[in-house]
Amino acid sequence: MNLGIEGRHALVLGGGGGIGRAVARALAQEGARVTVADVPGQLGDLDPGWDRQPFDLLDEPGVRAALVAADARSPLEMLVNAAGVFSRTPLPELDVAQFQRVLAVNLTGAFVACQEAVRLMLPRRRGVIVNVASLAGQVGGLVAGPDYAASKAGLIGFTKSLARYAGPHGIRVNVVNPGVVDTPMTEQWTPEAVAKVREDTPLHRIASAEEVGWVVAFLCSDHAGFLHGTHIDVNGGLYMD
Ligand SMILES: NC(=O)c1ccc[n+]([C@@H]2O[C@H](COP(=O)([O-])OP(=O)(O)OC[C@H]3O[C@@H](n4cnc5c(N)ncnc54)[C@H](O)[C@@H]3O)[C@@H](O)[C@H]2O)c1
Repeated sequence: MNLGIEGRHALVLGGGGGIGRAVARALAQEGARVTVADVPGQLGDLDPGWDRQPFDLLDEPGVRAALVAADARSPLEMLVNAAGVFSRTPLPELDVAQFQRVLAVNLTGAFVACQEAVRLMLPRRRGVIVNVASLAGQVGGLVAGPDYAASKAGLIGFTKSLARYAGPHGIRVNVVNPGVVDTPMTEQWTPEAVAKVREDTPLHRIASAEEVGWVVAFLCSDHAGFLHGTHIDVNGGLYMD
């Protein structure tokens, strides 16, 4: 591809995980400068050409400081939020503490990171934000619990609200909804559940992380210049909106 993003600085939250790493690879392959932010344990075996930024989405000042530090090294032009936690706890067993913890990572953490990114990008009137939500936020979760589904539905709504605010300031904002993707997160699914998804998906397979990574990279580029406030489904036709 020739996405025209050479030299632009991208911060990939959750870039040590399956989808985030694929996003980082795609952006780096297109010549972007990449900073990967993740919990320290996930930053070990990354491409040596990428900057590393330890952070925890549960730590509000730490999230803000991570964005400020990355931006200080080189002004941020792209923020991709591919960090998140999964849950498959059924409704009757779900307690308030867990519900709040999943929302704290997947939704409140995303809010803090996006708010800080907008604060940094706004004076420059330039920037792109892509959040990674989920099919679970659209259909209630096939295997995922109510906490995960609620966090991702919230992230879709939040991203659209952010797009309304940030668009007039020159910042493009979109959200990607993967179906089921072959990453460490999917190891929490039973083989039977994955087989059922394969069967129900018109393309009869699950996605590779790269197939999500390249969609995100495209959204980050000027070729997607009029895509704003929208959700892009990467689900092989499992759910057609
Ligand atoms: N794998 C799938 O099938 C699938 C489907 C739909 C959506 N998603 C979403 O895509 C995103 C990436 O998922 P993945 O499949 O790559 O999973 P993954 O587990 O491989 O990666 C998730 C990353 O998020 C990081 N993370 C988790 N909690 C964090 C915290 N408190 N602070 C900072 N980083 C934290 C992890 O360290 C990890 O590197 C997630 O938001 C996930 O919900 C995944």
